[in-house]
Amino acid sequence: MPAFSDPSDHQAGEQALLQPPMQNTPTTLSGPPIRLGVMASGNGSNFEALATAVKAGRLNAEIVLLVVNNPGCGAVTRAERLQIPHTVIDHRVWKNRERLDQELVRSFNAVQVDAVVMAGWMRIVTPVLIGAFAGRLLNIHPSLLPSFRGLDAVGQALEAGVCISGCTVHLVSEELDAGPIIAQAAVPVLKSDNHESLAARIHRQEHRLLPHAVQLAASRWSQG
Ligand code: GAR
Repeated sequence: MPAFSDPSDHQAGEQALLQPPMQNTPTTLSGPPIRLGVMASGNGSNFEALATAVKAGRLNAEIVLLVVNNPGCGAVTRAERLQIPHTVIDHRVWKNRERLDQELVRSFNAVQVDAVVMAGWMRIVTPVLIGAFAGRLLNIHPSLLPSFRGLDAVGQALEAGVCISGCTVHLVSEELDAGPIIAQAAVPVLKSDNHESLAARIHRQEHRLLPHAVQLAASRWSQG
């Protein structure tokens, strides 16, 4: 099902298709907005894509808190501009991953989030976080999972010489980058591509896929 069909799909030979396994879930924008927590480590462009979709009425949500682990990262600058509440939970401060995740859970529970999106969170998460938001913790990864899990998925795809790559939004499970897939978008890998050009093409699709996938998941949650 080609769910995206605006002209920007066709930039640079791009023809992305969205193939969500949740195709039969009708998306509904009715009902109270879900209260979203977002986690980011760097630039924050996916975080901003969520905020833009909320503002445009494409995502029935309110981003109630952004948490970053790197003080001064791009996501913080974006949150300030967008006037979205944000806080730093610096992984260097906490003695292990579980303590860091406890802090995340505490922060998100304090603002009563319904779901949490890892939008470029570059730390491995533990059962502490996964269990606290079971079935409601989403991650975006820059490959067509199950291919190229883990670090530098774009580099892995180039190294493998694949013709098609893309991005995946999935529920987070204890196995790294392996939880149930909500939606994927595919992009071609061109012969002329380097890391930067392929990453940019995937990023463009991420910004479209992530809000769509979150809305898809939210619609399913609202149906019980
Ligand atoms: C995105 O490409 C996202 O898929 C990736 O980090 C980037 C963050 O970009 N996430 C992972 O690799 C997680 N394994 P952004 O900060 O501009 O949103």
